[in-house]
Amino acid sequence: MKPIVYVTRTIPEVALALLRQYCEVIYRDEVPPPSREEILRSVENVDAIYCTLNERMDKEIMDTSPRLKVIGTMSVGVDHIDVEYATSRGIYIVYTPGVLTETTADLAFALMLATARRVVEGDRMIREGRWKLAWAPTMMLGYDVHGKKLGIIGLGRIGAAVARRAKGFNMKIYYYDIMRRRELEDELGVEYMELPQLLKESDFISIHVPLTAETKHLISEKELRMMKPTAILINTSRGPVVDEKALVKALREGWIAGAGLDVFELEPLPADSPLIELPNVVLTPHIGSASYDTRNRMAEYAAEGIIKVLKGEEPENLYNREVVKIRPLHSVKMI
Ligand code: GLV
Repeated sequence: MKPIVYVTRTIPEVALALLRQYCEVIYRDEVPPPSREEILRSVENVDAIYCTLNERMDKEIMDTSPRLKVIGTMSVGVDHIDVEYATSRGIYIVYTPGVLTETTADLAFALMLATARRVVEGDRMIREGRWKLAWAPTMMLGYDVHGKKLGIIGLGRIGAAVARRAKGFNMKIYYYDIMRRRELEDELGVEYMELPQLLKESDFISIHVPLTAETKHLISEKELRMMKPTAILINTSRGPVVDEKALVKALREGWIAGAGLDVFELEPLPADSPLIELPNVVLTPHIGSASYDTRNRMAEYAAEGIIKVLKGEEPENLYNREVVKIRPLHSVKMI
């Protein structure tokens, strides 16, 4: 009997084709995607769930699914999964590290440039017929990016990729991380700083930490008040790392100069969010990894991980490695 995989929403074809080679796939390619209730009804008899960061994979889901052996998420973040509970139940979690690093770093840089140089405001000015002076010495002035000080919060894969780009812009690069990354300091030419000092020194601050209990509201009113009035905050990690209410206040009252945001406390961003009215903010709809190549590779990588587990082999993209001790791979082998 083939293992059964439930796919929570529309995913790239390349991943479906791969899953279908080995598994029976339950898939509803529709918009809007299934509700929580429908997901709960659908996972009762499955061996694997293929999900995205939108679907909360919690105790209730896992308890509804007694045969569940593996959850594959098409994301590098796993904050939507109760990892501890999954591990205790012997459920393998596979994810997509590495394959979206460069693409996400590209977007962080795009937001930095767009916010500092008022790219979106300029575009809006033209489209709305407000471009009256051909070239004016003081029109639409922004901030230089090249040669400025960049503070990276979280020097993991994506943070390091942002640092490599910043080197090309001749920026002075600082970083803060819960772990000092000495091996990277020389290679990237980055200097470690405690968070308060980094906030005070940097012209640009780019966040690259996972969302955990420790990083929730890591940037809140106190931290925003430490930043320069000319500073620009970039967030391509997870919305709740920044206290959005405090950020709105900071942007309105000029504690900082601007923000480039790809992630929000609530997604999609509610239409009445005060962020929408602020001119000094560039907003993108959680598209850090959204290039054709990268989304295909992510989709495939999550599927490969699921198949490996169901073959009784350890995938390189296994997140909860300790699960192997709870439920050995030979006992999950179905293919
Ligand atoms: C996107 O945010 C991801 O976690 O892959």
